[in-house]
Amino acid sequence: MNTLFLKAENKEDITKAAEILHDGGLVAVPTETVYGLAANALDSQAVENIFKAKGRPQDNPLIVHIAGMGDFEKYGGPNSIAKKLAEAFWPGPLTIIVDKKPCIPDVVSAHLNTVGIRMPAHEVALKTIREAGVPVAAPSANTSGRPSPTEARHVMDDMNGKIEAVLDGGPCDIGVESTVVDTTRGVAVILRPGAVTIDMMAQVLGEEGVMRVSKTTVKKGEAPKAPGMKYRHYAPKARVNLICGSPQNSFEYIAARVTEGDGVLCFSEFFDKFSCEKIDFGKSYDKERHAHVLFSAFRDMDRAGVKNIFVQCPREFGRGIATVNRLRKSAEGSITELSSQNIVGIVGRSGSGKSYMSKKLSQNGRLIDADRLYADMLNTDCEMTRELTSAFPSAFTDGRIVKAKLAEIVFSDTAMLKKLNSITHRHIVKKIMEIVNAEPDMDFYIDAPTLFESSLHLYCTELVAVVSDDETCIRRITERDGLTREQAERRLASQLSNDFFKKYCDRVIYN
Ligand code: TXA
Ligand code: MG
Repeated sequence: MNTLFLKAENKEDITKAAEILHDGGLVAVPTETVYGLAANALDSQAVENIFKAKGRPQDNPLIVHIAGMGDFEKYGGPNSIAKKLAEAFWPGPLTIIVDKKPCIPDVVSAHLNTVGIRMPAHEVALKTIREAGVPVAAPSANTSGRPSPTEARHVMDDMNGKIEAVLDGGPCDIGVESTVVDTTRGVAVILRPGAVTIDMMAQVLGEEGVMRVSKTTVKKGEAPKAPGMKYRHYAPKARVNLICGSPQNSFEYIAARVTEGDGVLCFSEFFDKFSCEKIDFGKSYDKERHAHVLFSAFRDMDRAGVKNIFVQCPREFGRGIATVNRLRKSAEGSITELSSQNIVGIVGRSGSGKSYMSKKLSQNGRLIDADRLYADMLNTDCEMTRELTSAFPSAFTDGRIVKAKLAEIVFSDTAMLKKLNSITHRHIVKKIMEIVNAEPDMDFYIDAPTLFESSLHLYCTELVAVVSDDETCIRRITERDGLTREQAERRLASQLSNDFFKKYCDRVIYN
């Protein structure tokens, strides 16, 4: 079969794709998650061809994609949980499992009496489904077991000659498959994590309303709790070695073992330190980027002929849960957990109540106050003092630092401020890690206003943001520190924003 390569920017090409689907053919279409291998969901023969093209086990049911809310009740029997979730997250990366209507053939649902339905948030997918005039069954458009395709060329690699057409709509935005949630058991049960997180669903259904089946794959001999859990999945040809720990820890572990011919999927902060075949996973805290890069990176490593890939495991929170879930399945049997010590970095703007929250959070561990430690070190840390003396001689009187003078030097000179930070941050991080490493069985909570600027985040296993609105922060700063409003505003302007913290921290506490 000659596989047509269609372009979504051409209206005629979308029409062509819709015609093929309507007539019982297979077309790979872009969605916001990954490319789907679509067929008319009401045509058993067409759907059977999906299983053949993918080499997919027949007991693994397919998702039915719709283009309008009204179609939900045509193909499924949505209960109240399902309706609330659809209302909140459609169109979007959420597949909702509900009771199946008889018009959906058994081959779609693998003979279950339930069906997974999703309305994708992708204009091309929606237009194609609408024009075809039928719901489309679509699994990810990869050969079964391989990484899901996030670009049209990935689909061609697996499906060229096996399907009627590929509709190229550019790279997929999200990069991992939708969240799959079963709503038929009275609570929402997450069978597969995705971009709609458990926290997002809990906001709609309440904390008690959502639960997860399992963080990892099933053990040998154990029955799978969710379909798709029993196979090695999402895997490149190369062996995947997943290294879990703080970013710094996983970097050091990999750097000590990687040899010529290996590949590394590493965080941006460490990219320059590797000389082997390497792919940039994004900043260690950029969970959206990790999801976006993962599958494409696996395929690129295969193309480069790498036999062994080391992967720095992202932190497993929020959207990171989905990425790590795919990583664990692809790395089955070669997962290294470096440490069970929790190292929690707590960050927030001045006046956010970060110190108060740090005390509360650290009740079952040790608290390190980075500001206080720095103040101590100015008096006690000879090495840091020596470096500061040679960099800022005029800030010292009789061998002792005069903080007001130092502040004056760096206040209006960003180059000087950078120099100061590069010295102090390095020494503070070193000191903190000495304290942390001295008690490996203890969990640590580090109150660190410059968590990101100092790179201390690389040593943490969890990042917590304490967030208050600017007015509240300004009021607290002026009352507590006796600053004017202008001074308080200036201080806040020099700090990272709440939006940054909300996007990149693992947990956000509103205070
Ligand atoms: O993002 C996605 O979901 C992509 C795009 C194309 O929409 N599709 C996708 O499909 O990932 P697939 O077939 O690769 O994964 C569907 C998952 C499977 O793990 C399947 O077992 C589960 O959804 N599933 C589907 N129907 C189900 C049902 N009735 N009960 C339990 N699990 C179901
Ligand atoms: Mg799949």
